[in-house]
Amino acid sequence: MMTLQRKNARCHLELFFFFFVSTMISNVGANILIVGSANADTFLPIARLPTEGENLTLLPGKQPAVDLPGGKGCTQAVATSKLLTTRQTTTCSFVGQFGTDDAALVLLKALNDAGVDTSNCGRHRDLPTGRGYVFLTQSGSVSAVVSGGSNLGGWKRWDQDSDEALSEEEIDQLLDNVSCVLLQREVPEHVNLLIAARAREKGNITVIQDAGGEDRPISSEMLQYCDYLIPNESELIRLIKSFGDDSLSPSNDYISHAKYLQQQGARNVLVTRGSKGSTLVTDDGKTIHQPSFLLAPHQVLDETGAGDCYRAAFAVALLEGRNLQQCMEFASAAGSLSVQVNGVSIHTVAVPFGNSI
Ligand code: RIB
Repeated sequence: MMTLQRKNARCHLELFFFFFVSTMISNVGANILIVGSANADTFLPIARLPTEGENLTLLPGKQPAVDLPGGKGCTQAVATSKLLTTRQTTTCSFVGQFGTDDAALVLLKALNDAGVDTSNCGRHRDLPTGRGYVFLTQSGSVSAVVSGGSNLGGWKRWDQDSDEALSEEEIDQLLDNVSCVLLQREVPEHVNLLIAARAREKGNITVIQDAGGEDRPISSEMLQYCDYLIPNESELIRLIKSFGDDSLSPSNDYISHAKYLQQQGARNVLVTRGSKGSTLVTDDGKTIHQPSFLLAPHQVLDETGAGDCYRAAFAVALLEGRNLQQCMEFASAAGSLSVQVNGVSIHTVAVPFGNSI
C-alpha cells in the first residue's frame, strides 16, 4: 500500500511535468547560453560528515563513484538542454574551460550527449580540469569541496586587460540569438561581469545569476546586470554579510534579506529554500511563493544538483513564455524529481527529460 502511494506521488509529479512541457510555447531562435564551471565529481557515501580532526570510513560495502559529470555550469547546461522541448529551434550552449586530461573528455561527452553546444569551450595544457569531492550522507544531503583548476585559471581571454582579450565581436557572437544567460559563481567574477554587461547592453537578454559556488562577495556592478539573482538560504545570508551590514541579523527573515540585496542593486531575488519552497521578491515589490513538492525522507536519495535543476528549469520556463509562478512551479518540480534519483551517473540521470517523462 505504502509503495503504491509513493509511486502515485512520483507519478503525479511526473504527470505535472509532462503536461507542463507538452504545452510549452515554442520560442523560435531563443537560445540559452550557460557560462561557467565543469567538475569531474567524486562521490563519497558516508553515514555523516566528519567533525574536525576526525577520520571516517565510507559506508560498509560502498565504493566511491568517480569522475561523474558535475560542476554548477555543466550541470545546469545538461539540465537545460534536457529540459528544452523545442530543441529544433532552441539551442543550449555552454562555455567553460577544461584541461587536457581524461576528466575533460568525460565532461565534454556528457555535455555533447545531452545536446549541448560546446564549440566555444577552452582546453588548457597546463591546468587540470575542475574537480568536486562530494560527501553524500544517508539522508541524501550533500556537502562538497571543489578544486577549481581550469574553472579558475583558464579564462585569460576573458580578462579585458589581457593582450589576447576577446574582441567585442567575439563576445557578440557568443550572444548571437541568445535570450537568456545563466551564470554561477565557480568562475572568476570578471568572466560573469564581461558576459552579463554585454548582455545588458544588447538588451532583450535575461541574465540569471546563481549565487552558489563560492563564498566571496558579489559586486554591486554584477548585481545590476542580473535580472534574477538566485541564492539558497545560506548563500543569501553570506551575500548580505559580504556587504558588511551588521544591522540585518542572519535570521529567517529571508524576504528582508532579499530586499536588502535589492537596495544594493539586485533586481529580482529568488530564494530557494529546499523543502520549504522558494520565494521570489520582484523588483516591483511583489512576493511570489511556491511550495515545494513534498517528499518523504526516504524518497530523497541525493540532493546533488537539485539547485542546478531548479535554476535550469526556471530559465527554460521563463524563455518559453510562462508566468513567474509557473516558472517557479516547473523549477520546483524539476528539483524534486532530481533528488529522487541516485546511481552511477548521478548528475545526468537525475536531470529529468523535458518531454520524455
Ligand atoms: O551543484 C552541484 C555541484 O557543485 C557539484 O557537481 C560540485 O562539483 C559542485 O560544483
